[in-house]
Amino acid sequence: MIALGCDHGGYALMQEVKAHLEKRGLEYKDFGTYSEESCDYPVFGKKAAQAVASGECEKGVLICGTGIGISITANKIKGIRAALCGDCFSAQATRQHNDANMLALGARITGPGLALMILDTFLDTPFSGEERHARRIAQIEEP
Ligand code: RB5
Repeated sequence: MIALGCDHGGYALMQEVKAHLEKRGLEYKDFGTYSEESCDYPVFGKKAAQAVASGECEKGVLICGTGIGISITANKIKGIRAALCGDCFSAQATRQHNDANMLALGARITGPGLALMILDTFLDTPFSGEERHARRIAQIEEP
């Protein structure tokens, strides 16, 4: 199950993400927002991130205008590693090295074609499992 969260700036791109996930036969839970009416990205970023942190969803996709505000929000929640990606190399590396569990996209920066390629890369790349990366991920949670 993939958790989805966006604000008004990310709403249109999120509709493309949903259609793409449906085409791939992947289940998602949409935590809103549900229209292009102006809203506050932390509200929806938190809901989606909490679903991933609790284990209700394995991964998540977050979208706002830049991807910045919503990724900052998600990364405040313990256990969330949200990566803002504007290219496929970053999406691949953040799965392999950081075991990122949420992908953030900036809808005003990244066009839909590239965004969906980034999404596929993120979803299809496994964590490397290498000791040095696991060690560094554990250090993130240390005080
Ligand atoms: C909304 O105008 C915009 O600030 C938001 O989508 C996002 O870019 C914030 O980081």
